[in-house]
Order: sequence, then C-alpha cells, then structure tokens
Amino acid sequence: MSAALDKPRKLGTLLVTGGAGFIGSHFIRRVLDRTEFTGSVINFDALTYAGNPESLADVVEKHRSRYRFVKGDLVDREAVRRVFQELKPDAVVHFAAESHVDRSIHGPEAFVKTNILGTFNLLESAREAWKDRSDVLFHHVSTDEVFGSLGAEGFFTESTPYDPRSPYSASKAAADHLVRAAWHTFHLPYTLTNCSNNYGSHCFPEKMIPVMVENMLAGKPLPVYGEGKNVREWIHVEDHVDGIFTVMTRSKPGETWLLGSGEERCNLDLVHALCDLAGPRLGKTAADMRALITFVKDRPGHDHRYAIDASRVKRELGWSPRWNLEKGLEATFDWYRANRTWVERVKSGAYRDWMKQNYGERGPS
Ligand code: NAD
Ligand code: TYD
Repeated sequence: MSAALDKPRKLGTLLVTGGAGFIGSHFIRRVLDRTEFTGSVINFDALTYAGNPESLADVVEKHRSRYRFVKGDLVDREAVRRVFQELKPDAVVHFAAESHVDRSIHGPEAFVKTNILGTFNLLESAREAWKDRSDVLFHHVSTDEVFGSLGAEGFFTESTPYDPRSPYSASKAAADHLVRAAWHTFHLPYTLTNCSNNYGSHCFPEKMIPVMVENMLAGKPLPVYGEGKNVREWIHVEDHVDGIFTVMTRSKPGETWLLGSGEERCNLDLVHALCDLAGPRLGKTAADMRALITFVKDRPGHDHRYAIDASRVKRELGWSPRWNLEKGLEATFDWYRANRTWVERVKSGAYRDWMKQNYGERGPS
C-alpha cells in the first residue's frame, strides 16, 4: 500500500527549529518562495556558534509579514512551551541540533542536551498544545549516520536497523526513537527523513567541504583524515530541503523516508575534484592545489561508508535530486569566494575559541 496522501497536506503556521543554521536557513528561504505554501514561518533558534541570522537577511527583506524570528534554546522547556502557546504553530520542522561529529567527540554533553532533551521538550510542548489534533505534523530531520557504517557494498534503506557509532549519531538516533515513540504512544503525527551529507552555501566552515574551500582560498594545508578512503554520499542542500517539503506535504503520518543523491565519493576523490575546479579559478593549476593536501590523524571511530537507496521516496512521492555534484561543488566554491563577510562574521564567534582550545591556531593537524 502506498504511503502517499491522496491530496497534498496544507501547511499553515510552521515552526522551524534551527532555521539560522545551514540546512534550516535554506529550507526557510525555499519554502517561503513556494507558491503552494501560503502560511508563515516562525524560526526558533538559540544562535549557537553555528547559527547566523544574517543567512536570512534576504528572506526578512522579501517576506517580512510571513517570517518571525524567536531566539530561544530547546533545552529551556518553558521557552519552547511559550512558542506553542503564544504563536500556535500547526506544524514543526525540527532542524536544530548539534550537528558536527568532531565536536561530539570533544564534547558530547551538548549533543545529549540539545539533540535528545531538546527534541523531547519540543515533542512534549507539541503534544500539550496540539492535544488530539490530527491535522498537525511534526517533521523530524535526521541523518543516515544513525544506521552506522557500511562496507564496500550495500545501501541504507528505510528498514536498515539502527547502529549509531559516534556521540552525534547516537544522540540523533535517540531523538528519532523519541519521535516515533510519541506517535505510537500518544498519536502525535510525525514524518521523518534520514539524509546523507549535505553541501552548499551557508555551511559553517567546520564540515569537510567548506574547510577545504576555506583552506584553498587561504593557501593553507587541506587536512584529509587518515588515508582519505572513507566514503560519503553528497547531496546539495537545496535538494535536501525540497525533499523535506515533499515529504511534509505528500507523506502519510508515521512514515520515514531516506533522502540521498547517489553521488558517492571517497574523501580524497572529493578533495581532488575541489582542487581541480579551484586551481584555474585562483590562477593556479590543479596540481598546485593538490600539493596542499595533507594527510592528518584519523578521526576516532571514523565510519567507513554511508550510502542511501532513495528509490522509495522517488517512486512513491515523486521527489528526486536536481543538482549534479560537479556543478554543485563549483557553485559552492564560488559562493564561499564571493561571500567573505558571511564567512568572517560566522568564524569570529565562539567557533574561533573552540578551535583554538581543541586544535590550536592552525586547525586540525
Ligand atoms: P547547523 O549546525 O548548521 O545548524 C544548527 C542550528 O541549530 C543552528 O542555527 C543553531 O544555532 C541551532 N541550535 C543548536 N542548538 C540549539 C538549541 N539548543 N536550541 C535552539 N537552536 C539550536 O546544522 P545543519 O547542518 O543545518 O543540520 C540541521 C539538521 O539536519 C540537524 O538536525 C542535522 O542532524 C541534520 N542533518 C545534517 C546533515 C548535514 O550534512 N549537515 C545531513 C543530514 C541531516
Ligand atoms: P564531515 O563534513 O565532518 O561530515 P560527517 O562526519 O558527518 O560525514 O566529514 C565528511 C568526511 O570528511 C568524513 O569522512 C571526515 C572527513 N573529513 C576530513 O577528511 N577532513 C576534515 O577536515 C573534515 C572536517 C572531515
């Protein structure tokens, strides 16, 4: 039996958590530009090191009457409850999280607080405000990392058992379980997506692609963990957020969907591709850029491979990714090169202190 709705779900007032972060900011921009979305957006965000409200400056300008920002921490149950009581959202899309694996190795507690307790507070507040309403929706944004690590063969599917292996993925897995438990026990309608690695503009320069781009622009070493053989599947952030909108509007409640692009690369191949496109843009050769590659100490517990079988969402809900990886990497490189103010401002916050404390002045080595 199909898990698609007969008629698309209408979304009214939408509470977006973590909308000042990388993926959340893209979601807000694209949802407000859609003609089929006539509701409004509340962006609830604590503005941690990863959140930058300036990422949405254009959105505020263009959609002033349909966009509202509320600074708040999900760990603060009263603050979350107040948003539900006062602003009365009809749907939630939950992006807010501590999202970087390396940070979860250095300091896992923040991951337990935000990703587990924060999700619990959001679910409890939704449940309290929505009571038995069935016309509401809690969409939970999760990761393929909850499924653990693959060998050379095979793909994650919607029925792959959970096997998280980093503090980050363990905290996301716990959150996923809480969301499903709220549906089974209290009938809180949810949809859930597990997506592969995202890339694109506005990603905080701690994840691999923006780290490499930033270091290329600065002529600094490109730190590849281990031998660069780990494999990731890279999806453009716009394809991810469009997939989330598709699921929110077309899926029956109580369903999980895997979103991926099929664009698998080992890390070294990906860095080579970035070097090859960066060289000529910077008046250098690809070989000059590749000479910056430095193999550094591996991440502890480094998952070998993530790869997604996204055939179900394509078949049943009609979503498929539009970006090709080569074009997407070029657009991403060009964005970071052109948007130095965004980069400098986001880097000048708590991130700089954290990097110094954990890695010294030069970054991971
Ligand atoms: P991000 O780190 O760029 O942004 C996280 C946002 O959440 C920030 O704006 C931050 O200020 C906010 N936030 C953090 N703690 C908060 C708290 N306690 N209360 C309120 N707001 C808080 O993250 P991202 O890369 O945009 O990821 C968004 C979501 O997508 C996460 O749930 C992540 O697990 C998931 N995801 C990310 C990827 C990826 O490749 N980045 C892939 C799959 C799934
Ligand atoms: P990352 O962007 O941190 O995402 P995730 O750990 O969630 O997959 O890392 C992507 C891959 O790149 C991962 O295999 C670790 C590797 N990596 C590097 O080799 N060098 C780096 O500087 C970073 C940040 C990551």
